[in-house]
Amino acid sequence: MAETKNATLTIEGKMIDLPILSPTNGPDVVDIRKLYAQANVFTYDPGFTSTAACDSTITFIDGDEGILLHRGYPIDQLAAQSHYLEVCYLLLYGALPSKDELAGFTKIISRHTMIHEQMHYFFRGFRRDSHPMATMVGVVGAMSAFYHDSTDVNDPHQREIASHRLIAKMPTIAAMAYKYSIGQPFMYPRNDLSYAANFLHMCFAVPAETYHVDPILAKAMDRIFTLHADHEQNASTSTVRLASSSGANPFACIAAGIACLWGPAHGGANQAALEQLREIGTVDRIPEFIKMAKDKTTGVRLMGFGHRVYKNFDPRAKVMKESADEVLELLGVHNNPTLQVAKELERIALEDEYFVSKKLYPNVDFYSGIILDAMGFPTSMFTPIFALARTVGWISQWKEQLSDPQLKIGRPRQLYLGESMRDYVPIDQR
Ligand code: CMC
Repeated sequence: MAETKNATLTIEGKMIDLPILSPTNGPDVVDIRKLYAQANVFTYDPGFTSTAACDSTITFIDGDEGILLHRGYPIDQLAAQSHYLEVCYLLLYGALPSKDELAGFTKIISRHTMIHEQMHYFFRGFRRDSHPMATMVGVVGAMSAFYHDSTDVNDPHQREIASHRLIAKMPTIAAMAYKYSIGQPFMYPRNDLSYAANFLHMCFAVPAETYHVDPILAKAMDRIFTLHADHEQNASTSTVRLASSSGANPFACIAAGIACLWGPAHGGANQAALEQLREIGTVDRIPEFIKMAKDKTTGVRLMGFGHRVYKNFDPRAKVMKESADEVLELLGVHNNPTLQVAKELERIALEDEYFVSKKLYPNVDFYSGIILDAMGFPTSMFTPIFALARTVGWISQWKEQLSDPQLKIGRPRQLYLGESMRDYVPIDQR
């Protein structure tokens, strides 16, 4: 992080020099850490639109150019040539693994896939109609009650075990949340299958029959995981970092990340997007919906469109779109009404002045929902799948944060606009 330039801020005639930090890629960053001490002012940036909350070496996004790099490698190359567990290794350890390193890592992850048997009873405390994300927030948080030997964040060995456990067990937990919601028996993981194939097995197999995982579907699943693995300092990752800044244990931090991801502006958008396509129902109703999405008084947004950072296109969406075509072809889904609406909506929005001028392109959630729906997942499982895939990103960022010697508890300040000090009025005098 080179520090070569300075910015000067003048406040009521007083000049304050602020260092400018130059990143490897991306815009320069004005270092305001000493601003309050020097000038007795805060900065104001709700939504963090201009604020770098940390430094990181994991993921880089150039939203104007539509670039996403993990440890320097472009996402389209990783999606085409790598696979999820290799990307997990890359995110966690900073370099692509050798054959032996990958084999060792794969073995460790597959050996941690089962969850403590007692946790099965924990699931039974939930209503059957619970949203699987509600179950996941609870069960992942509860891992801190089951895995005491990996909650000490000051012990690098425990941090490592917690990372492996979370990556390995998240598919099991997501699949169990699904099975529980449909009243089917839990399926134990199969460690002879790949990460993605095992997840499909745990979701779709039943003990009464042999289940064959289609390799093309396993590949598509793996690609969905890969495309969601990390996305630098988004809302849920920042939530994990903020929770962890107090020294909270990793399971509690990841549960906080899952809770944040659930919202429809973030990971919940994949469910909301498909449900909106179904609500639109037929191509002739699209103009009516587009009209509502442009009218702020309706509160309607086109779900699966727009992104805080990508103002050109979402590079993940490009790969996801290709995957969607492959999977739909394989499954023989050619012209169901949802797909027809999706294609037409995409076409119209890409030409519409409102969406074009605001740079609102289809994002990753627009296409992932279409694939997951075709694979047989209910919409309520879309966000849990995002959560399980993003776990490695959260964990990598959490590990990076904990190894930073400058780590401080996250404590934003505020622009207070409430009442000044006033005297308490007894109730009989109000
Ligand atoms: N439909 C209609 N108008 C929109 C949409 C949309 N999907 N997204 C943004 N706008 C408008 C918005 O009304 C605003 O208009 P104006 O400038 O006239 O006030 C302008 O575009 C900028 O929007 P913003 O809300 O200030 O932008 P943001 O960067 O804060 O929000 C977003 C980004 C992703 C939350 C937003 O685009 C959105 O709500 N999209 C729909 C939900 C969605 O698909 N989310 C998934 C994001 S990708 C996966 C992930 O990150 O988890």
